[in-house]
Amino acid sequence: MTQDELKAAVAREAVKHVVPDAIIGVGTGSTANLFIDELAKMRDRIQGAVASSVRSAERLAGHGIRVLDLNDVDDIPVYVDGADEVTAGLAMIKGGGGALTREKIVAAVARRFVCIADESKLVDRLGRFPLPVEVIPMARAHVSRALVAMGGRPVLRAGFVTDNGNQILDVSGLVISDPAAVETEINQITGVVTVGLFARRGADVLLLGTSGGVRTLRAA
Ligand code: A5P
Repeated sequence: MTQDELKAAVAREAVKHVVPDAIIGVGTGSTANLFIDELAKMRDRIQGAVASSVRSAERLAGHGIRVLDLNDVDDIPVYVDGADEVTAGLAMIKGGGGALTREKIVAAVARRFVCIADESKLVDRLGRFPLPVEVIPMARAHVSRALVAMGGRPVLRAGFVTDNGNQILDVSGLVISDPAAVETEINQITGVVTVGLFARRGADVLLLGTSGGVRTLRAA
């Protein structure tokens, strides 16, 4: 199976986790896009969706799915999103698409995070994929120096502005043996908006597309 076929398989599996007559949280990226397309088939059975990016909101709306502002929503039973890397412990690197801040906010509200990914995303240790860090533009140099002091090699994502009007540093070279500790350390650098480590609030369920079928991994 191709990577796209594996993504399509997990997107189909993910709709089984959607709670009927409730709000669904929807992530960003190519896998999330396929999930949105599947969700469209059951749009009459959900109240609506909260999106983690402008482009996902537009795709949802294009399918006739009602898109709600997170501030108008009390409860999101399930959030479905992809990942750039995920461990068997369900910690993730996210933000390859630059939507990490809104993804982390919607995930924080959701009761259950369902990660959908093809098997190429499963890693023993996070960090081969450069870690995205969203920064306030005036703090870029300061945050970069702090990341270098941690052993990282930050590179500005050229020509990219987040939905929140900020910039992204993609950081290679960090040793992420304790993802929650690294997440906390980077969060504390002044000027950081969000780090793309999702370990303190990782996924609850991983639907992993493999050539042998979709595997379901659950948080311990
Ligand atoms: C978006 O900002 C990311 O967090 C995505 O969830 C992640 O990059 C996975 O994207 P793909 O599904 O396109 O691999």
